[in-house]
Amino acid sequence: MKMRLWASALGLALFLSIPAAAEVDIEAGAALAGQSCASCHGAAGEGMGPNPPIAGIPENEFVQMMHEFRSGERESGTMGALSAGLSDEAIEQLAAFYASLDAAEPAAFQVEGPLHHVSAEVCASCHQEIYDEWKQSMHRNSTALKDPIHELMYRGEVGDPRKHDQVHNRSGTFPVCLNCHAPNAARDQVTKLDAKDAYAEGVSCVTCHQISGYRGVEREGGGLRLGILAYEMDENRLQGPRGFPFDQVAKHDSDVTNPHIPRQDASGNHVDAALPMDSNPSMMKSSQLCLGCHEQRPNPQGVPLCDTGSEIDESGSQVTCQSCHMPTTGDHASHRMGGGHDPHMLSRAVRMEVKARRNGENVRADVEITNLLPHKMPTGAPFRNVKVRVTALDSTGNVVWENYTDHPQHEAPEAYMFYQLGDDEGKPAMPPVATQVRQDTRLEPHEQRVISYDEIPTEAAYVRAEMLYNLVFEPMKPRIMELGATAEHLAPRSMAFHEARVQQ
Ligand code: HEC
Ligand code: HEC
Ligand code: HEC
Ligand code: HEC
Ligand code: HEC
Ligand code: HEC
Repeated sequence: MKMRLWASALGLALFLSIPAAAEVDIEAGAALAGQSCASCHGAAGEGMGPNPPIAGIPENEFVQMMHEFRSGERESGTMGALSAGLSDEAIEQLAAFYASLDAAEPAAFQVEGPLHHVSAEVCASCHQEIYDEWKQSMHRNSTALKDPIHELMYRGEVGDPRKHDQVHNRSGTFPVCLNCHAPNAARDQVTKLDAKDAYAEGVSCVTCHQISGYRGVEREGGGLRLGILAYEMDENRLQGPRGFPFDQVAKHDSDVTNPHIPRQDASGNHVDAALPMDSNPSMMKSSQLCLGCHEQRPNPQGVPLCDTGSEIDESGSQVTCQSCHMPTTGDHASHRMGGGHDPHMLSRAVRMEVKARRNGENVRADVEITNLLPHKMPTGAPFRNVKVRVTALDSTGNVVWENYTDHPQHEAPEAYMFYQLGDDEGKPAMPPVATQVRQDTRLEPHEQRVISYDEIPTEAAYVRAEMLYNLVFEPMKPRIMELGATAEHLAPRSMAFHEARVQQ
């Protein structure tokens, strides 16, 4: 710091006395650094995450490095492009500025308040790709502030997500929804979700990475504890899938500031980790990490709504949720965690094949559908539903037959996979008030099902089948769109398509 003041005082003195012709303009360097470099290398060139410290590098070395980036002699995606836009003069100014700064040790990440208030934005400064994936996921969008489908139900059953002291209207207690949908707020028993970033972020980095143990959703002596109540949460330490050796200490000259392990400062003193982390593979690599929120959720009458974990249990599958929902992308486990909102994920759920042949006076088509998943298809929220549309075409491409025209529920029930809840009289009912299951025609885990039609007219030359996934039932759509959902968000997603030529 002293150096910097001295240098700028000198710059000023030179400016006042003699024209600063041959002198390097260190103030210009400072301004340029503030505009173009500080966002990655830190305001004092101290380095941030993967961006190395650059303060205190001698001028000539700095200039050389920049020339190497600019010529491509030293390869760097980021610095190559950046240095290409800099003149020799600008590089000299930057070099003079950074040389004038103390070779600061990497700035310690300061984290204020409890760990469950730490926003994902903090993690983003070093884990950008994972952050970008998470940001698109329904975990990020799980609150009534972001998800219009959730908002519709939440407003109906609880109230305003922007107000304090909201209660679940039938039980009169703190809304259980938040234990899963806004867990960081539930930990503070707060219902005003825009009060803190960490609340509004829904299922955020610190939610999952503070889970240190699984107690299970069944309470001893009856009853359920759902969402965060099913877990042990470590108040002070993050949990990692691998972790770091316990005696590893980040050196002050390390390229990457690792805030998860203690450091030594320039004088060799021990500095505690800002975001300390335990190694906890038995939690992070197990389905239990997901089950507190995903195993089961009944409504107040005990009717099962979401049951994904129990479905897998019954199927006997040992495959973890992570192996499908967190595949490796690049160098890390993907945090996109797609499901019904993700067309690419949906396209991997089933195998569907059409077989069509002439059968006496008619054509017969068998549509073979195999659920490749260890949970039901569709799984999850009770209004997810799938239609299988089967169409026959003549040799010129005209439609000569279809299994339904409007909706399969009554016209072709075999082609409709859904979960329908009912009231005491057996009439259809919405999830919060239902007292029984009316019907469940979803594909069971690993089920193979054949849907057959044998009265297709003989002109048929091709038979095609398409599986269409819907997030919600048709009658719910207008109300969800009033809350801001686009028609595209609610449109059917094509999961599978197959077409066969009719065999003679
Ligand atoms: C988008 C982030 C980003 C910005 C902005 C950025 N850098 Fe970098 N810089 C990096 C990364 C990452 C490296 C590591 C080198 C690599 O990519 O191989 C680096 C490396 C360097 C190095 C080499 C340090 C060493 O010890 O090897 C210098 C010097 C440097 N940057 C200077 C600058 C200057 C000057 C600016 C502003 C004009 C700047 N950087 C802006 C990300 C950035
Ligand atoms: C200042 C940079 C920085 C910040 C901020 C940061 N991390 Fe890290 N993190 C690292 C580095 C460096 C590593 C080790 C190298 C790697 O795995 O990328 C790491 C590794 C991890 C790992 C993997 C551990 C393992 O077992 O392999 C997890 C999980 C993690 N961080 C979570 C977080 C979370 C959650 C946050 C926000 C609360 C966060 N990090 C904030 C730099 C940072
Ligand atoms: C829904 C729970 C969940 C959320 C939310 C979550 N993580 Fe993770 N994270 C995991 C699990 C589980 C793993 C371990 C995956 C494995 O190794 O099988 C993991 C792994 C990681 C790793 C190590 C990745 C690797 O493969 O090397 C990092 C780093 C990390 N998470 C950072 C973050 C950050 C940053 C955020 C927020 C932007 C975040 N996580 C949000 C569950 C979560
Ligand atoms: C703290 C609770 C919590 C934990 C832990 C959690 N989830 Fe979730 N998850 C949710 C909530 C809430 C939603 C629903 C968000 C919505 O649709 O509004 C969700 C949604 C999903 C979806 C549906 C995405 C879509 O496209 O609709 C998938 C898949 C998923 N989670 C997988 C996982 C996996 C895998 C794990 C474990 C690694 C996990 N979750 C851990 C609460 C959690
Ligand atoms: C074999 C791969 C696989 C495994 C293992 C797996 N899933 Fe899935 N999951 C999928 C696919 C593909 C989909 C999309 C189809 C669907 O929504 O049914 C999906 C959908 C989901 C959804 C979306 C439901 C919705 O409402 O949108 C949730 C939630 C989910 N899985 C949770 C889990 C959990 C929790 C586990 C572990 C207990 C798990 N899954 C294990 C592949 C898998
Ligand atoms: C045990 C955890 C848990 C609790 C408690 C919970 N949910 Fe959920 N909810 C989930 C999960 C996980 C999903 C997404 C995956 C799925 O569909 O199973 C979900 C999905 C939803 C969806 C579908 C969202 C979409 O984008 O399609 C709605 C609506 C919903 N929940 C409303 C509520 C309401 C309202 C409450 C409180 C009365 C509540 N949930 C309580 C875990 C929970």
